[in-house]
Amino acid sequence: MKYYLTTPIYYTNAAPHIGHAYTTIVADTIKRLKRMEGYDAVLTTGTDEHGQKIERAALAAGKTPQAYTDVIAEEFQRQWQVLGLSVDRFQRTTSQSHAAVVQDLFRRCVERGHVYKGHYTGQYCVFDELYVHDAKPGDPCPVCGRPTETITEENYFFRLASFQEKLLALYETQPDFILPETRRNEVLSFVKQGLQDLSISRTTIKWGIPVPDEQNHVFYVWFDALSTYMSAVAGEKIHSENLWPADLHLIGKEIVRFHAIYWPAFLMAADLPLPKRIFAHGWLLFENDKMSKSRGNIVRATPIHKVLGTDALRYFLMREVVFGQDGSFSYDALVGRYNADLANGLGNLASRTLSMINQYREGKIPSSDGDQQIAHTMTECTALALEAYEKFDFSKALEVIWNMIGVVDKFIVERAPWKLAKAGDDESKLLDETLYTTAEALRIITALLIPVIPESAAKIWSQLGCKHSTDAVRTAELNWGHCQPGQALGSVVGVFPRADAKAAIEKMKELEKEELERQQALLGKTKAEPKAAGDGLGQITIDDFSKVDLRVGIVKSAEAIKGADKLLHLHVDIGEPQPRSIVAGIAVSYKPEELIGRKVVIVANLAPRKLRGVESQGMIVAASREGDIPVLASFLEDVPIGARLK
Ligand code: MSP
Repeated sequence: MKYYLTTPIYYTNAAPHIGHAYTTIVADTIKRLKRMEGYDAVLTTGTDEHGQKIERAALAAGKTPQAYTDVIAEEFQRQWQVLGLSVDRFQRTTSQSHAAVVQDLFRRCVERGHVYKGHYTGQYCVFDELYVHDAKPGDPCPVCGRPTETITEENYFFRLASFQEKLLALYETQPDFILPETRRNEVLSFVKQGLQDLSISRTTIKWGIPVPDEQNHVFYVWFDALSTYMSAVAGEKIHSENLWPADLHLIGKEIVRFHAIYWPAFLMAADLPLPKRIFAHGWLLFENDKMSKSRGNIVRATPIHKVLGTDALRYFLMREVVFGQDGSFSYDALVGRYNADLANGLGNLASRTLSMINQYREGKIPSSDGDQQIAHTMTECTALALEAYEKFDFSKALEVIWNMIGVVDKFIVERAPWKLAKAGDDESKLLDETLYTTAEALRIITALLIPVIPESAAKIWSQLGCKHSTDAVRTAELNWGHCQPGQALGSVVGVFPRADAKAAIEKMKELEKEELERQQALLGKTKAEPKAAGDGLGQITIDDFSKVDLRVGIVKSAEAIKGADKLLHLHVDIGEPQPRSIVAGIAVSYKPEELIGRKVVIVANLAPRKLRGVESQGMIVAASREGDIPVLASFLEDVPIGARLK
């Protein structure tokens, strides 16, 4: 029985943070769970290295896209190793084996008549690498809210519109194809509104997989990226079973459309089997905002791993965030959960149980059937926890398991083994039963926790004297009565030492800074913090400011200036009879054709001057930090041409 699951492949424009770790940790947990259920589970992940977003990020860092992505892809690989995640294959989209699968998928779509050549002029969101149909220049991206850019280029189009009915039939016949229900409903209503054909190649960027038999076309990055799920296991089998189709694609909620619409349509067009399920989880928020590099609010996993251990992070994420919904991360909550649930809860139960057996029975599990009431409760709770796991309701499963811990704690207090021990032979049988009961309950609780906190579960497991590896534990062993009388305990060491909250948080924050600096050094960025606004510029009065005539204009034409790498010559209409001729140093960020139709801000009353022989009648406004590429100022709402900024 095979179970093939995937994480999204992560963009290499930024180093990993705990948002990425979240998906990969959940995937690792599901893999371990499936292994416990007896499946040969295979987990793949990787990096999404092509496309305009990466091309630009590399440019801003002064590196080639390949050199840039090499560094970040390695960071991701290293991160999963540090966290001990059992990834079977890490696929990079810049690998040869991957390119061959993408090209093959394309050929299959072409051969079956689902692709044609055309032109796209319209809006594009570089951040999400998304074509935004029906949008006007300057309109925001419906996914991230950033301004879209206008692109005009020759493309290959995929006949997505013709798949509307087939997709609706898929969602109908396989209601659990997209989970949870809210995401399924979103997709259904999107598809019901009608689909438009989709560009699957690009000609104005170079950083991508070449389209076969074409000079200038590279694949649209999502056509390329989604194929990873196949390329990662191309030709791979478990026993005689092919790994494709995937049993589960685990993704974040912002990329549902690509996975639930584009991906099955590409596969249907190519006559290939479809994945069985797509589960979209929510976002990890930090201070109420989605954690992401662009918002500058990221937390990295390595500092948490070093201070509290990876299992602390895993437990926190799986317990605190209801899977499928958004959840918040904070250092306080992390340490709070660690101390309350791991150190005091599970850790305390383990050390109490094991040290009593050491003290009263010379480190050997006594012979007994155990207390039948407790046995019954454990059996019932185990079924509930497994049921919750099966639905990927991790927080519920953990809640049930912690109730089990509570039941055993109460049982220990009620039985008071220390009193039974004092009573000697009279209570010897009851003491045996009590100790066996706690040890066996601890064994079941530990086994149930293997998928979520594998490292700590393995420690408790061997301290209990269980000989086989936790990787080999199967759900049948969750039944009562597997602890062997006479089984000798391993050496007992505390698994979750209590953390001093203040010191732990300070340490994690300090390590976070170090980690940031290490990564910046890897990418060749300077450590310098941006200067505070206004620093060193002196103050001006409102009258000074009103001397600057800032106007909204629309780019009518744009072309490169020969011999000047950084300059573009634009004509910008600001509502005057003639468009302004403007020379702008933005060629590193924008291609001329991307600018046409875009609304910009210009300084309209700047004295004209000649640059490279071209008269510039104003200046275009863009923002950049020291060493970064310029980004044009723009508006989220539509603003009329000629409007003044004041
Ligand atoms: N490269 C695409 C995916 C292509 S899959 C064929 C992409 N990459 S990404 O780097 O932006 O990573 C997206 C995924 O990372 C999300 O779908 C989610 O799984 C995870 N997360 C990134 N930030 C996250 C949070 N703040 N919270 C939860 N998950 C997050 O999109």
